[in-house]
Amino acid sequence: MILCTTPAEMQAACRELRASGRSLGLVPTMGALHQGHLSLVSAAISECDAVAASIFVNPTQFGPNEDYAAYPRDFESDRAKLEAAGIHLLFAPSAAEMYPPGNTTFVDPGDIGTRLDGASRPGHFRGVATIVARLFHIIGPDRAYFGQKDAAQVAVLRHMVRDLNFPIDLRICPIFREPDGLAMSSRNRYLSAAERKNATILIRALRAAEDLARSGESSAEALRNTMLAFFPPNTHIRLDYAAVVDPGTLLPLTDTARGALLAIAAWIGTTRLIDNIVIAAR
Ligand code: PAJ
Repeated sequence: MILCTTPAEMQAACRELRASGRSLGLVPTMGALHQGHLSLVSAAISECDAVAASIFVNPTQFGPNEDYAAYPRDFESDRAKLEAAGIHLLFAPSAAEMYPPGNTTFVDPGDIGTRLDGASRPGHFRGVATIVARLFHIIGPDRAYFGQKDAAQVAVLRHMVRDLNFPIDLRICPIFREPDGLAMSSRNRYLSAAERKNATILIRALRAAEDLARSGESSAEALRNTMLAFFPPNTHIRLDYAAVVDPGTLLPLTDTARGALLAIAAWIGTTRLIDNIVIAAR
């Protein structure tokens, strides 16, 4: 595995790789890797001749009161996991390399970047779109791998790839879960033992709404109310949003017969978790 720590080095390594005619996959991450990330890596390795991964805790996608400084960083362990998984190139730049003084250009995703997590985390998707666009330019992958776990991120990036004509195939991988259903997340390590137990409330609420949809209910309001009932006010668990939206636009639906994204964000103590389920068209 080749490690590159500057954009120029990575650009040169990727150019050489592409010149050999091999297809290139990219798995962008912020590190603190778990099996969810590694499932993206496996998918990339099975579909591409060579695979690059990036580890970069991107400051511009964190709000001023968010966990940028505290975000888990475990470079040596991440590097070993990626090497064992068979990654060819690892890009791990510093924040100073990626955002040198005078860096002023950003990618603004527009209205879609203000929905779901974009509503509760203003500027988050501008930071995500900017860093992903830059990784795409530096690396030039044929395919890029993202998790359905971050469903709003997927919608924003699909728009960006279309609007900015990136010749890149976005591959979206299913949510990798713990045995009790909790979606794997780098932030799960913030949870105390009691919080970890309670954290399954997200998937329980989503599955209850999914069951209702399966039984024939197509009213978005009914599905949303089912999810809301799991989150009584004034507890240690605080709902951020429970939404029933179009997975492409993230706009609220009234009827789900043509399919829907059920999405929840909630605070378990001081940790914000997200999860979702897509229900298919009837
Ligand atoms: P990060 O949270 O590290 O996630 C990296 C990728 O792993 C994302 O595409 C995310 O959706 C996927 N992922 C995380 N948990 C998953 C799970 N349980 N199952 C399947 N996939 C999972 O998302 C980001 O980083 C950043 O916003 C990034 C795209 C790297 C831009 O900075």
